Amino acid sequence: MRDDVENILFHESTILVRLDELAAQITRDYGDKELTVVAVLNGSLWFMADLLRRIPLPLSVDCLSVSSYHGGTESSGVVTFHQTSLPDIDGRHVLILDDILDSGRTLHAICTKLVAEAKPLSVKSCVLLAKKKKRAVETEADYVGFEIGDEFVIGYGLDYKERYRNLPFVGVLRHALYDPQ
Ligand code: IMP
Ligand code: MG
Repeated sequence: MRDDVENILFHESTILVRLDELAAQITRDYGDKELTVVAVLNGSLWFMADLLRRIPLPLSVDCLSVSSYHGGTESSGVVTFHQTSLPDIDGRHVLILDDILDSGRTLHAICTKLVAEAKPLSVKSCVLLAKKKKRAVETEADYVGFEIGDEFVIGYGLDYKERYRNLPFVGVLRHALYDPQ
């Protein structure tokens, strides 16, 4: 797998230092609020596990299965929800966790659906990575681990065709693997 990586952007040790900072900020901001973290499967599992172990609040955790890529490197434009019931967040403050903010469609669709259908007290979002680019849908995350360029990245939860999620770092996927030119 290592040979498929063009260059490493963030080593595990760098990610964990940043997660300490993000966790401290989230802990301060939520204090004694009733917090429910909603993790977007599958990409945010690694991020969620490392981040939440650094937040000493009595929070609850739920997951949402959503997809917008359908196996390629470009967002399909269609966000599909894979489950029929939403997390029970009535009267809770919600923090959505996702691996990466790209076109903005996924976060926007999730926020909109939760607010319209599940009666949370508030909804904020936290992503490990945010691509610096013009979003297809105007959305920004409230907490961002790292900003990156408009490149396709893998590792630490992020996949290409469901591979590479278990790499312990975030790296750029070699272009030749998906773009023959
Ligand atoms: P958005 O809806 O375009 O913002 O895309 C968000 C989702 O697309 C993320 O949850 C990821 O699953 C996936 N995604 C976007 N960019 C990348 C990338 O560079 N590598 C791997 N997955 C990505
Ligand atoms: Mg994802």
